[in-house]
Amino acid sequence: MPDTLTLTDNRTGKKYEVAIKNGAIRAMDLRQVKVDDADFGLMSYDPAFMNTASCQSKITFIDGDKGILRYRGYPIDQLAEKSNYLDVAYLILYGELPTAAQHDEWIEAIKLHTMLHENLKKFMEGFHYDAHPMGMLVSTLAALSTYYEEAKRISDPQVRRMQTLRLVAKIPTIAAYSFRHSIGRPYVYPDNDLSYTGNFLNMMFKMTEPKYKVNPALERALDVLFILHVDHEQNCSANAMRAVGSSHTDPYSAAAAAAAALYGPLHGGANEEVLRMLELIGSKDKVPEFIKRVKAGEGRLMGFGHRIYKNYDPRAKIIKQMADAVFDVTGKNPLLDIALELERIALQDEYFVSRKLYPNVDFYSGLIYQALGIPTDMFPVMFAIPRTSGWIAQWEEMVTDPEQKIARPRQVYLGAGERNYVPVDKRK
Ligand code: CMC
Repeated sequence: MPDTLTLTDNRTGKKYEVAIKNGAIRAMDLRQVKVDDADFGLMSYDPAFMNTASCQSKITFIDGDKGILRYRGYPIDQLAEKSNYLDVAYLILYGELPTAAQHDEWIEAIKLHTMLHENLKKFMEGFHYDAHPMGMLVSTLAALSTYYEEAKRISDPQVRRMQTLRLVAKIPTIAAYSFRHSIGRPYVYPDNDLSYTGNFLNMMFKMTEPKYKVNPALERALDVLFILHVDHEQNCSANAMRAVGSSHTDPYSAAAAAAAALYGPLHGGANEEVLRMLELIGSKDKVPEFIKRVKAGEGRLMGFGHRIYKNYDPRAKIIKQMADAVFDVTGKNPLLDIALELERIALQDEYFVSRKLYPNVDFYSGLIYQALGIPTDMFPVMFAIPRTSGWIAQWEEMVTDPEQKIARPRQVYLGAGERNYVPVDKRK
């Protein structure tokens, strides 16, 4: 059987044969379907890209029905169990796990770039004392582009590599500074003796002690959370990174756009919303009443549901398993019981079952962040730190893909036809 699709245009009776490759037809092949020569040609209409592949990618594989997530072919549970964040960031960015020598070289290269320019620190000091840390992160990412003029030369692989190192290395520093700023504490400079996550905890929580002591269990938990958030193929922020980057802007400006997309409550802002929801519910016995309200359309069960997963999000499974290791050190988060009760009831309820709504990555991550002492409004920032390597991998793939051009969707225009201007005194 040929790998083609035969289309019949019932308006004209004409038949068309369109090639099928990798389970997709090319939308541009529809353009030949015309009523007459003056016709623009058929388009596909797909609000929110529900069934449109905008690129070919070799980075992340998801089977949403089976609950499978793989980075460059490696199952997420194996990476979470055996690897560490920088190892996985290298894998996502360069396609293979690093050899021992590459790993050491990568870590050293990242350490060289963890500091921020002092002026950038001053820039962050300019934010209002109660500025949301994610707003600070978005703006500071954009501001980075003003420090590295060469970043615009995106066709030079060496220049791209340098910005990659800077972005991966500096994002935890920006994130920690935004936290310290919001609580009025002095910024803490990076400590490059520590691991990526150990140093992040240092920059967040060091007080007057000469050297910050990292708790290995918490450092590991953060590493796992970072691994789980590295990439998730063409999600809203990755799509923003690609779309903005497709105009050949520098990667800092594109990453700022991606972070802005992540900020929204339907994307990376959801973990923040989950915590607010759990606090609002207040106790386990109030859960049935809350579920009733969600089913009546009064708000959503945050941390539930996913555009792609129609099964348990594999990341949520790993986080749930890891929670105990964290709570052993920090003491149990009292909101955990409410979350478990929500999950228990929702997974038996016809409303959630029939819509295939399961816990997603954000459902349990906030509980762990909170136990680590990270305030709620920092949660999307926590998501942005590891996702930065995913954004750059997506951007790099887009920039080097000869098929990609400036992203510019079509529209179906339904507005007014041509009409003549009416002066203000004649308008009704
Ligand atoms: N609570 C209650 N009902 C829901 C929920 C929810 N969390 N999610 C979806 N539904 C219902 C929705 O009302 C609709 O019902 P109906 O068919 O009766 O109108 C049906 O399920 C399909 O929902 P949808 O909005 O068409 O699905 P979508 O694929 O457009 O949305 C989603 C996906 C993640 C935006 C949505 O599930 C949601 O808003 N979840 C809560 C926010 C959240 O947890 N976001 C984090 C996503 S995972 C992290 C990330 O990748 O960013």
